[in-house]
Amino acid sequence: MIIVAGSANIDLVARVDHQPAPGETLIAEGYAVHDGGKGANQAVAAARMGSRVRFVGAVGADDFGARIRTTLEAEQIDTSALSTLGGASGIAMISVDYAGENCIIVVPGANEKLGVIEDAETVFDGARVVLAQLETPPAFVNAALMAGRLHGAETMLNAAPAASLSPYALDALDWLIVNAAEAALIGEAAVPADVTAAQALAADLAATYAVGVVITLGADGAIWQARDETAEDAAGHVAGAAAEVVDTTGAGDTFAGVFAWARSQDKSIREAVRWAVAAGGLSVGRAGARSGMPGFTQLAEAVGD
Ligand code: RIB
Repeated sequence: MIIVAGSANIDLVARVDHQPAPGETLIAEGYAVHDGGKGANQAVAAARMGSRVRFVGAVGADDFGARIRTTLEAEQIDTSALSTLGGASGIAMISVDYAGENCIIVVPGANEKLGVIEDAETVFDGARVVLAQLETPPAFVNAALMAGRLHGAETMLNAAPAASLSPYALDALDWLIVNAAEAALIGEAAVPADVTAAQALAADLAATYAVGVVITLGADGAIWQARDETAEDAAGHVAGAAAEVVDTTGAGDTFAGVFAWARSQDKSIREAVRWAVAAGGLSVGRAGARSGMPGFTQLAEAVGD
């Protein structure tokens, strides 16, 4: 069982020819409403691989909340630990430009009311992997990581949106998953300009925080550094494949969800990164955070297994 603890949003997406500058008013080309939220997106990416996934989070008592729940259940995700709280559900206002790059403003709504996880014994029972992100409060993230550790699961934190890691229970963490900009912010370093620089930054982060580190590099794939640098395949790089980019929203979530799934299947770190890189590459070909997320058969073909 993969347990994803995190945010669920509805994404309100405008397509623009360029991102607005401060004070600029833009006329968008089109508008769409998509399902989103880093946590829920990652749960969907893992569920599409065919694994059992439980999502722990919160929605508001509104129409968006009902939609979020229904959509997750349609993906066969267990929503028994998805609470409905008073007030609004989380939303994200997103602009996507012609290059597929996005700007995102999240209004957390119910996500920011999450804290201690009630009945954690039951919720985390049978957990093989626990995956969290930083769109929910630290108390909730820590509750998930610590419950995961207590239940013998492999624990993962996708530190997005990027923030200092000081409030987090890193002693309960196995893998830190970040993109290059997030890695730079956390490591108080320059954004790595190439694979070699990313590998060096990952090694620094792994030593500083005593965790394994995976850094995604967009079209350049991803690198990893295991916590135990003497382990076999302790560090490496998987290159990306050329992809037609329509919308990069959710690419990092696709990577994290598929990485979690691959580890839950006992794949090696190199194999897990290989599957996750391929999934991230496929995800950018369609508009919306989840539309391009592959199913198992499509991904297995792309990976060549
Ligand atoms: O990672 C993409 C996601 O970030 C979007 O779906 C949006 O909801 C924000 O959480």
